[in-house]
Amino acid sequence: MNDAFEKEKKHNITALGADDQLKLLGKDFIHLTAKHKYTYNFTWLGRPIIQFPQDIIAMQEIIWTVKPDLIIETGIAHGGSLIFYASMLELLNNNGLVLGIDIDIREHNRIEIERHSMFKRITLIQGSSIEKNIVQQVYNLAKDRKQILIALDSNHTHDHVLEEIQLYSPLVTKNSYLVVFDTIIEDMPPDFFPDRPWGKGNSPRTAVWEFLNKTDRFIIDKEIENKLLVTVAPDGFLKCIKD
Ligand SMILES: C[S@@+](CC[C@H](N)C(=O)[O-])C[C@H]1O[C@@H](n2cnc3c(N)ncnc32)[C@H](O)[C@@H]1O
Repeated sequence: MNDAFEKEKKHNITALGADDQLKLLGKDFIHLTAKHKYTYNFTWLGRPIIQFPQDIIAMQEIIWTVKPDLIIETGIAHGGSLIFYASMLELLNNNGLVLGIDIDIREHNRIEIERHSMFKRITLIQGSSIEKNIVQQVYNLAKDRKQILIALDSNHTHDHVLEEIQLYSPLVTKNSYLVVFDTIIEDMPPDFFPDRPWGKGNSPRTAVWEFLNKTDRFIIDKEIENKLLVTVAPDGFLKCIKD
């Protein structure tokens, strides 16, 4: 690692994080592109992944640094994010697995995920992420794993996300991350999600804030969102700092 380069990078990221005008532009970009369903237009190794490219890069950096042997994701949709995580584990060349939980795994998605070359590293569980027997299955599969990373991207209401955080955060290992997606909902206009149960005041971000009031195991890794500027997860990259 080149020290001077790293030092300059840190300096630049701090400056980006303090640049309110740029931060606002980032949020405006997310706000204005949402009506065109911008995040629905990307694929990872052929599967649709509903993410901003910036967040995909952030997850790549986290996975390469943490080197998890288990990644758990709630909310899989078309499976692109699962395939992405599995492909990262394949490059890490460890015994890593991806566990994907979704209340509704559509048949056409399941078929495509199961016939993908990365499926060898994926386990699918259908059911609600907060249901007792689903949580039990996750804990059974996590039993012998050493480094666990979790991504929450399912139902985005405050209560659901808070419950997911409470149920799954104990699995996250020290120096790994609990990534809570779509905290950006809190920054969108109050009437932005008319057909959804979530919105400003009832979002993954309010759940994160409530959780952080009661734990000292996690801190918000601000450096990640400061360098991304465009991210759906402001205050959502939670680093586990204690066993
Ligand atoms: C935003 S999409 C996930 C996108 C995916 N992570 C990606 O990056 O491509 C949300 C998914 O959450 C699922 N979902 C909604 N409520 C859920 C629940 N209670 N438990 C598990 N999954 C749920 C939906 O069926 C949907 O597929």
